[in-house]
Amino acid sequence: MSSDNVKVAILGFGTVGQGFFELFNSKKKSLALDNVSISEIVDLKYGHIVNPQDDLISNLKPVEDGSKIDVLDIIQKSDADIVCEFTWVNFKDGEPGVSHIRKALTTGKDVITTNKGPIALFYNELKELADKNGRNLRIKGTVMAGTPSFNVMDLLPGSEVKSVRGIFNGTTNFILSRLDAGENFDKALQEAQSKGYAEADPTNDVDGYDAGAKVAILSSLFGWKRTFSDVRIEGIRSLKDSRDRKGYKLIGYADKNDAYVRPVKLDETDLLYHVTGVTNAIQFDTDTLGEVTVAGPGAGRVETAQAALTDLVDIIGK
Ligand SMILES: NC(=O)c1ccc[n+]([C@@H]2O[C@H](COP(=O)([O-])OP(=O)(O)OC[C@H]3O[C@@H](n4cnc5c(N)ncnc54)[C@H](OP(=O)(O)O)[C@@H]3O)[C@@H](O)[C@H]2O)c1
Repeated sequence: MSSDNVKVAILGFGTVGQGFFELFNSKKKSLALDNVSISEIVDLKYGHIVNPQDDLISNLKPVEDGSKIDVLDIIQKSDADIVCEFTWVNFKDGEPGVSHIRKALTTGKDVITTNKGPIALFYNELKELADKNGRNLRIKGTVMAGTPSFNVMDLLPGSEVKSVRGIFNGTTNFILSRLDAGENFDKALQEAQSKGYAEADPTNDVDGYDAGAKVAILSSLFGWKRTFSDVRIEGIRSLKDSRDRKGYKLIGYADKNDAYVRPVKLDETDLLYHVTGVTNAIQFDTDTLGEVTVAGPGAGRVETAQAALTDLVDIIGK
């Protein structure tokens, strides 16, 4: 992309949107991104904000009726070069994110997203649309936030990934670590909620859908083409009344023949056994290096904003 005056629009100004706005402003100078600006923000709660000032977050006020905002029309008319899609995740039909992404790609914008719904359900279609329109579609934040995950393979030209496995959901890993330590399931879940790891409705985490989405995304990225509905998903509820709860991890796995998420009992010789608390990890089985493992945060305000910043720098080509 040409480096003169790049405009970035943010859709969805919640945890990730605000985290990205702050991280971008704080790192802009050190990354020599003076020619890049956040030109507009669209959010159902905060409305349509054009040319936001750096101190925007301390002055944020909800608008009267944000639901009347026509986000697709704003994308259509926007002169932004890059659209950052950070709205609500939806594993049923990917909306509203998938429509935002389609509209952005077909009206001349590159897209960065952390939204797993549209990517787990429609990655192949969206990537084709991006290619057809000569645009970039960057999705680092959909798997392990800013922690290098599938993108480490960019450092290993020619290396072939035979399979990928990992711990892709911090909330369930935290709960399983507490079960391993002797805590009961409901208490461990409450603790995860009180620490802000689990939502009030923990279904997406506990029933494995969030991890399943990441497995579907990895399968698509490595050309194995399993979408969300092809991933066999089992969450961690079966361990609730089980007496044997030591050493379990919610493992996501994909190769060219299979894609699943299920609780697996690991032994101490397995590196993933040692990944505890909310930490995520990914392990690639490669033809040139054998097993390569990366561990780190999989969610959080700054952690996910880092993913979008990585994608932004990647697109701009610094
Ligand atoms: N937080 C994390 O650690 C994390 C990590 C990885 C990936 N992600 C993904 O990143 C995305 C954003 O996450 P988040 O934690 O920032 O969520 P969030 O705090 O709930 O923020 C989402 C924002 O988008 C707004 N929104 C919803 N529908 C919209 C629409 N149609 N048009 C414009 N704005 C809309 C919401 O407004 P209302 O509140 O009024 O609905 C809210 O302000 C999600 O897809 C999430 O799964 C998050």
